[in-house]
Amino acid sequence: MKISIRLVVSLIITVAAVVVSFSFYSVIREKERLVNDLERRTVVLAESLKETSAPLVKANSAARLNRLVKIFGDRERLKGVAVFDARGGVISVTPSLAPAVSNQIPVVVDSLTDKTPSGELMRIDGKKVYVFSMPILSDDQPIGALALFQDASYIDARLAEIWRYNLIRFLALSVFIVAVTLIVVRWSVEGPIALVARWIRDVRTGKGKPHYPAGIPKGTMLEPLISEVTFMAKSLAMARARAEEEARLRFRAESLWTAQRLKEYMLRELGGKKLFLVSNREPYMHTREGRAVKAIMPAGGLVTALDPVMRICDGVWIASGSGEADRETVDADDKLRVPPEEPAYTLKRVWLTKEEEDGYYYGFSNEGIWPLCHITHTRPTFRLEDWVKYQEVNEKFAEAVLKEIESEESPLVLIQDYHLALLPYLIKQKRPDAKVAIFWHIPWPNPEAYGICPWRQEILLGMLGADLIGFHIQIHCNNFLDTVDRFLESKIDWEQFMVVRGGHATLVRPYPISVAFENQRESAPRQDRREIRENIFKEMGFQAEFLGVGVDRIDYTKGIPERFRAIERFFEKYPQFIEKFTFVELGAPSRTHIKRYHDLISEVEELADRINWRFQAGSWKPIVFLKAQHSHRTIERFYMASDVCIVSSLHDGMNLVAKEFVAARDDGDGVLVLSQFAGASRELVDALIINPYDVEATADATYSALAMDRNDRADRMRRMRAVIRENNIYRWAGNLVTDLGRLRLSDNV
Ligand code: G6P
Repeated sequence: MKISIRLVVSLIITVAAVVVSFSFYSVIREKERLVNDLERRTVVLAESLKETSAPLVKANSAARLNRLVKIFGDRERLKGVAVFDARGGVISVTPSLAPAVSNQIPVVVDSLTDKTPSGELMRIDGKKVYVFSMPILSDDQPIGALALFQDASYIDARLAEIWRYNLIRFLALSVFIVAVTLIVVRWSVEGPIALVARWIRDVRTGKGKPHYPAGIPKGTMLEPLISEVTFMAKSLAMARARAEEEARLRFRAESLWTAQRLKEYMLRELGGKKLFLVSNREPYMHTREGRAVKAIMPAGGLVTALDPVMRICDGVWIASGSGEADRETVDADDKLRVPPEEPAYTLKRVWLTKEEEDGYYYGFSNEGIWPLCHITHTRPTFRLEDWVKYQEVNEKFAEAVLKEIESEESPLVLIQDYHLALLPYLIKQKRPDAKVAIFWHIPWPNPEAYGICPWRQEILLGMLGADLIGFHIQIHCNNFLDTVDRFLESKIDWEQFMVVRGGHATLVRPYPISVAFENQRESAPRQDRREIRENIFKEMGFQAEFLGVGVDRIDYTKGIPERFRAIERFFEKYPQFIEKFTFVELGAPSRTHIKRYHDLISEVEELADRINWRFQAGSWKPIVFLKAQHSHRTIERFYMASDVCIVSSLHDGMNLVAKEFVAARDDGDGVLVLSQFAGASRELVDALIINPYDVEATADATYSALAMDRNDRADRMRRMRAVIRENNIYRWAGNLVTDLGRLRLSDNV
């Protein structure tokens, strides 16, 4: 209310100031106009009277003058006329004015002295009168003067009327403004604030949901406040859920890894040591959208998995800056705190030149090692110039890491993936006290397949610089040890899963990467599944009874064409699903400068078009291919709404889409169809496991998923959720960091 009063008072003062200034100005202008008008009329009258009176004055004819002034007395605004002699003495005057007109009226005296007409306003009997005196000259000498007395009181009346009128206008405006202000304040400020306050109270007390409150339109001035509070409320809800989970676990003495437990563990076990994480891909990339700069999380399992870990452990994530607005968002040290909405750790960006990116990232990493490690019948290409750039960029990363760990004693360095195979060696060479691990996110092939790499020994030596090498599954560890055995002089301890070479030991262990199960559950307030589904179909412009989803970077290892062909076969074999089932592929374009990736997009688009052309009926389509960098929120909506999620990788280290789908299904429904060639199939045995090369079997699995009995679906999902809940990303990080932290480096040398 105080604010309303203040607002109203300030508005009234402003209006008053404006009205007074305008009134003042109009009064001055009006007065000027009226006086000028009066003067003009008086001069004309005086001129005509002078013609008649001048001879009479000359002749000193008082009687005739008396008659004249009588005739001109008191008509309309002319109150009267007077004739003066050369010294200003009254000769003759209109009788009604006689008592007030005396000798030596200043304006008359002035006009006689200056020999020019003169006029001024004066008061006679309390009334405003305009007196105009015109000298009567003979031989250029004044012989008398003629004075006209005009009634000017109407000027004051007119000016008073202007003031009165503007006062009424001010009062009316004030009433109107006060009323409108009070209504606007009530509707647009007090009302919504009361609603927001009630909503905050409900959220605080756990009665309300931390999403945008109903009844408050978007785009109002409260929106930024609401989004901040929503964010805070979500964090609060997550913290509350975590605390409850912790309490429940303590009560049941379970040993589930949670975010909180990982945090405490890092503090206790590692004395709060910082983690230095290195990867090629950065977790947050700044792009431009019009004039605004926006942070996005790039598609790919690596960043999805590691961001929650870094949020807990703090530390520094060193990665290549590849967003178009990345340079604008870092400090002088090329660093910034992320995530942007809730900074929790430091991102340090390493800058690569176009040539470096070309040779190291596109060339050696993604046309060489990537197809080398994925057995998907895409030939690796090895070029000497790419290898040179690969070495140079690994050295560049090494420099950045060494600078960061300069003042840290025995730092923990966690290197990620095939882009940085030489980094462990480069770091350990300079900092033998550092504890270095490299985690290989993609499969490791058998020695025959690996053997085609011209620099096979150099890569192995680079990796063996690490104290610990992690893969997702045991078979990749076995393949790696076999490969080392085949190509390097070394001692392999098959019991310990250790390689000893030149006095340095490297442990090789499986750590199945995962998702932050509890975060997944808390991150977005759950909408009703039916509602999400209805909205999705509304957006697509048609309806269907069943919905399937696939989420991938558009990569030839993901088996997207195989999946589409299986869906085509499914419609051939089970035509009862035509117009009833739609499969949505959320495909994020990836590495498109490489021809194979570029061609794959066209291949997938053409395939979808062909299948759609064949089966579509009315507005219904069998396949919807949505090609974009989809946000986690969008992907989660599809996870929630779908009856089946198909993961048909031809070869995949782990595949987190499978795990994300399971983690998202807190309604306990949904079926996962999962490739036997994805690492995730080792843990998610309750999925319908397929060979993606087998079109018939994949089509049948899709049918089984849609026809599956509700209880069977629920049982499978419950078991898969239990697996992911227990083997979440915190366990992955906890196990990896424990093994790394507990290594006694002195034993190694
Ligand atoms: C795979 C790799 C990651 C990579 C991700 C996305 O998951 O193992 O290292 O970050 O794909 O690919 P991109 O080339 O976009 O980084």
